Amino acid sequence: MARGFFITFEGGEGAGKSTQIGQLAHKLRDKRYPVVVTREPGGSPGAEAIRHVILSGAAEPFGPQMEALLFAAARCDHVEQLIRPALRRGKIVLCDRFVDSSRVYQGMAGNVDAAMLAEIERISVNGVMPDMTLIFDIDPEEGLRRAAARRGDDQPDRFEKETLAVHKRRRQAFLDIARKEPKRCTVIDASADAETVENAVTAAVFAALEARSHADHEAVQGA
Ligand code: TYD
Repeated sequence: MARGFFITFEGGEGAGKSTQIGQLAHKLRDKRYPVVVTREPGGSPGAEAIRHVILSGAAEPFGPQMEALLFAAARCDHVEQLIRPALRRGKIVLCDRFVDSSRVYQGMAGNVDAAMLAEIERISVNGVMPDMTLIFDIDPEEGLRRAAARRGDDQPDRFEKETLAVHKRRRQAFLDIARKEPKRCTVIDASADAETVENAVTAAVFAALEARSHADHEAVQGA
């Protein structure tokens, strides 16, 4: 039976996630792994429609609960339309942001009630949780500098425009998740140069894939 592997990439603004996801996808494909690259909010037609509503700031006046529900609605569509089917076909799914972003942006740093967030998380993922999460950690001042350089003359989006204090709380919130869930989460020092970060990502992911194939082998032997 095919069994995929679900990896999510999390962290603050300007941490270089998308570049690293691209490089990793390349390396995995070189080794003949079947890879699907996706992102949140978005990743499926329904979720992409919601993405625009959220990131433009159109939902902001209706409050953080409304935004949390929109992220969850987008995630629900993304999971059912793309992630679950891809994992069933044995793909490695690389997803730029997932539930930890909701926990951090809407939860710990955004004041949405934790019990409500946990409940909508449960409904939106419906059993599909990451096998592995890489948390890209960077000093928010440096991350915002990088994000601004990348953006050029465009305006910062709904979540990038928050104060430095909010970005610092988000950083701490991601590190807290990594501390609480060490089996799932690996913290990557994203302040290093791109090649060093790439090496750290490659080492972590290939070690996890090897451990998984070892565990599968043991299970077959023991069956
Ligand atoms: P985007 O430009 O896609 O991402 P990135 O910052 O990763 O380059 O913007 C997505 C924004 O949405 C980002 O600021 C984080 C935020 N977000 C949440 O607040 N909650 C969520 O559940 C998700 C998935 C993203």
